[in-house]
Amino acid sequence: MVKPYIASKLISWQKQAGRHNLPWQKTNDAYQIWISEMMLQQTQVKTVIPYFNKFIQTFPNINRLADAQEDEVMEHWSGLGYYRRAKFIMQSAKIVVEKYHSRFPMKVEDLMTLPGIGRSTAGAICALAFKNPAPILDANVVRVFCRFYGIKEYAGVSTIKNKLWELAERNLPSKDISIYTQALMDLGATICKVNSPSCKDCPIKKKCESHKRNWIDHIPAKKPKKKIPTRDVYALVVEKEGYILLEKRIRSSVWEGLWSLPEIHKDCQPQKWVKDFLGEEAYIGLREGSTLATFSHYKMRLFFEHIQIHKPINKVINEKFKWVDKEEIKHIGLPTPIKKLLEGI
Ligand code: ADE
Repeated sequence: MVKPYIASKLISWQKQAGRHNLPWQKTNDAYQIWISEMMLQQTQVKTVIPYFNKFIQTFPNINRLADAQEDEVMEHWSGLGYYRRAKFIMQSAKIVVEKYHSRFPMKVEDLMTLPGIGRSTAGAICALAFKNPAPILDANVVRVFCRFYGIKEYAGVSTIKNKLWELAERNLPSKDISIYTQALMDLGATICKVNSPSCKDCPIKKKCESHKRNWIDHIPAKKPKKKIPTRDVYALVVEKEGYILLEKRIRSSVWEGLWSLPEIHKDCQPQKWVKDFLGEEAYIGLREGSTLATFSHYKMRLFFEHIQIHKPINKVINEKFKWVDKEEIKHIGLPTPIKKLLEGI
């Protein structure tokens, strides 16, 4: 089988320009390689190195790790962040000891059944520890392939992800899989960087679509920002002798059960509302304005009118409404945008 272009170029490049002294490159032990891959999932190489060395010193094999107390493992993970990974390795260690007689499974599908191991981590363990041809596709590799093939779409969507896995699979070499895998990682980390990539030193630039078309700065595409809807809300700040009128939000509204300002329909005139609800016509308009509040799923444009009632109110208002002293209002759990609005008034 002829080596595909990318693999053949990368393998020669890795031998002379790649990284060779990373501590996990000095072993074929799947256990150590697994620990390094778990640490490297969300943490940079230079941070991982001392943690990896100390971890392997204390937990030199899977049995020692499977027998360890949680506190001892957490102590070794402390400072690396993403502590779920430490939990995953403790769970995985027990599974490997019990189910696989302390030997790491050699197949991607089996590795992927272990907690915290996705397809790319499984591929890396297969390739680096067992020299089994399996693709990897971490963020660095996504960038390399997207740039090389000129893929301008965001890689997080499943159609593009599937296409990238297919390309990763198709580019696997028939030999030197561990050198190739390391080369992909090294290329992503040292040459095909996110910012200011060193294209002039790249071993595959001649066939790189983005290099040819000057697309390097546009690839990989950023995650598209979701357009979130804007809701307009019209509220009244009704003031009377130092008291503010509050309305209890009913079920099925965003602020269900909270006291808030009375909301009016967009087309409703404040004077009509005051007359209907309070039986009064006399009020003074003090101020109007709007504020914008952003929530996870929508934005709220809050329009308000601040009005003052200057006549005694005779109408009894129902239990959905209450007058609250301006001072006391600070201690009521109002929705944040409403609280801010009132603080500004
Ligand atoms: N990132 C993920 N795995 C890595 C490895 N084995 N070497 C360097 N960086 C990596």
